Amino acid sequence: MKIAITAVSGQLGRAIAEKAIATFGKENVVGTARTPEKVKDLDITIFKADYNSKEDFVKAFQEIEAVLLVSGMDKPEKRSGQHKNVINAAKESGVRKMIYTSIIGKPGDSTFDAVINSNRQTEEDIKNSGMDYAIGRNGLYIEPDIDYFDNYEKEGKIINCAGLGKCSYTSRDELAVAYTQLIKNDSLDGQVYNLAGEAITQKELVDYFNRFFNSQLIYESVTPEEYLAWQKIHNGDFLGTIIAGIYTKIRHGEFNVESDFEKVTKRKHKKVNEILSEYTDHIID
Ligand SMILES: NC(=O)c1ccc[n+]([C@@H]2O[C@H](COP(=O)([O-])OP(=O)(O)OC[C@H]3O[C@@H](n4cnc5c(N)ncnc54)[C@H](OP(=O)(O)O)[C@@H]3O)[C@@H](O)[C@H]2O)c1
Repeated sequence: MKIAITAVSGQLGRAIAEKAIATFGKENVVGTARTPEKVKDLDITIFKADYNSKEDFVKAFQEIEAVLLVSGMDKPEKRSGQHKNVINAAKESGVRKMIYTSIIGKPGDSTFDAVINSNRQTEEDIKNSGMDYAIGRNGLYIEPDIDYFDNYEKEGKIINCAGLGKCSYTSRDELAVAYTQLIKNDSLDGQVYNLAGEAITQKELVDYFNRFFNSQLIYESVTPEEYLAWQKIHNGDFLGTIIAGIYTKIRHGEFNVESDFEKVTKRKHKKVNEILSEYTDHIID
């Protein structure tokens, strides 16, 4: 089966492409990228394609049986229209099956809900497209927190508004394992799957970091209003609003979900300590 994976210039698209190459063979995988220069080292055909252009994707999807669409990063009000370009291009090109990387999250009224709603709109557009489909809803990646560790250490703490709320974390590599199954295994078609690992509090995250990185961080919780104001100052209106919304959803338990990872992959999702220990082994290597 010949498959196309979008946004392989990004970290999730790349992780999925690497697993897909190992599973289906490089001759059966093509990638699309808005910035192909970033993926010169990936040994597959890459088509330059921007989510704003349906035509770019029609060119990329000739003789493709399945398309994996990685959600974009634009403002929420623009995202579902961009994704629709990819869905319509797939339909027009005779693609049989769409796989989509959506996001977990119970509905709420946080400033992140516009992003969740745009993902839900794309899920509906795929269901209504007439193509076969499988939809994954991703837990929050743990890697951005690991990447930010040096800053946490400088500050001596993790500070946000999650309070005692639990969040179901995952990693891009774990997601890539699940998405390879969703591409390959048609018996999983027609469903939406929460792809996430164990749900932990921010205090538990801090404890894991202190254990694995030998640090002495503390966790400090502030109110959603305080955190939104702080985020806007430090990360600007757009990104600050998104980040504050994410931690508000964690506070309200809206990112604590039952996971379908094992149903999809036939194995348990790695625990946070396994992911962190692989990460620290990798640094030591
Ligand atoms: N679950 C989570 O914790 C979490 C966290 C962050 C984001 N996300 C979502 O998951 C997606 C994948 O995450 P990631 O870690 O791979 O993010 P990433 O490394 O920042 O990659 C984002 C990708 O989206 C591409 N993209 C953005 N706008 C595009 C457009 N108009 N046309 C074509 N491609 C476009 C980027 O292309 P360029 O290389 O050209 O910029 C890049 O390849 C994100 O896009 C976002 O929707 C989820």
